[in-house]
Amino acid sequence: GAGWPGLIEAYRDRVAVPDGARIVTLQEGNTPLVPAPHLSERTGCTVYLKVEGANPTGSFKDRGMTVAMTHALAEGSKAVICASTGNTSASAAAYAARAGLTSAVLVPQGKIALGKLAQAVVHGAKILQVQGNFDDCLELARKTAAEHPVTLVNSVNPVRLEGQKTASFEICDVLGRAPDIHCLPVGNAGNITAYWKGYTEYHGEGITDSLPRMFGFQAAGAAPLVHGHPVAEPETIATAIRVGSPASWEGAEKAKDASEGLFSAVSDEEILAAYRTLASREGVFVEPASASSVAGLLATAADGRLPKGSVVVCTVTGHGLKDPDTALAGMVEVEPLPVDPSAVADALELR
Ligand code: F0G
Repeated sequence: GAGWPGLIEAYRDRVAVPDGARIVTLQEGNTPLVPAPHLSERTGCTVYLKVEGANPTGSFKDRGMTVAMTHALAEGSKAVICASTGNTSASAAAYAARAGLTSAVLVPQGKIALGKLAQAVVHGAKILQVQGNFDDCLELARKTAAEHPVTLVNSVNPVRLEGQKTASFEICDVLGRAPDIHCLPVGNAGNITAYWKGYTEYHGEGITDSLPRMFGFQAAGAAPLVHGHPVAEPETIATAIRVGSPASWEGAEKAKDASEGLFSAVSDEEILAAYRTLASREGVFVEPASASSVAGLLATAADGRLPKGSVVVCTVTGHGLKDPDTALAGMVEVEPLPVDPSAVADALELR
């Protein structure tokens, strides 16, 4: 194909795949780094949004999945399995379809956004709804993969993070430097671990001359890293990050400590406010979990933890269309208009 070849080809020397492997790609990566003038003005910083909803299945998970599926295929695997709050399963289902593999996804019953479930359905995944939360699903997926011929494609599979780290490369390539601060939503903690790996690789090779401080934000009802212990019954409107016992706990802790960053909790109200601000002021529609990076940006700007004048990147991890129910909640139905220009003018209060 022409143009951007997908991130494995684009970062061939930095993302290892088995020799001679068929690359399983949907041309993921190369997502926009969009300036955010409203957020910049509100925070006194220069804020950019790394819009990961622009990936093929609408979330950053595609970065990991191209690598995981390429490895699975090269190893002769016939089937893959994952646990998911929705985006990993959507991505696994799509990339498995592309690779000609069977996929099975374990999702928490009733707690995954409608669009994500639709994706798993149309891509032909075997969908198992589990009477438990994401943490229960992950334990089941790990046990199944340990005992049966099926490859685990959750981010506990280290090749996933090799793909996800490329977002840091793209940011540095576009900015010509590393940001001062990087804000991320944190759930199972793979992504913050991967971003830090990407930033430290570029820095270690002298491509960038500084490292960002990593700011990780969790939903208040699902904030094990903030509290320093697992949360037995995580709860938040941001179902994507409804995780009580993150698998990449150590990686996230290391990213925070080594970068002199922080973990902080944001309430569901703050998440929804940021969600609406992003859509109505910046023109960027994200899913609720993704808005937690921006909720955290605004909270730390307000309480003084975000130094003014910083160059800040907020990753917005998934597309708003994933979760139409949250977007439409509280909408009242209005009577349709007759086909009449004066009715339109009246409805818009134009006269
Ligand atoms: N944002 C979105 C939209 C997500 O789907 C996730 C994770 C995160 C942020 C957090 O990233 O887990 O690397 O810290 N979703 C996983 C899933 C759990 O199953 O799709 P993380």
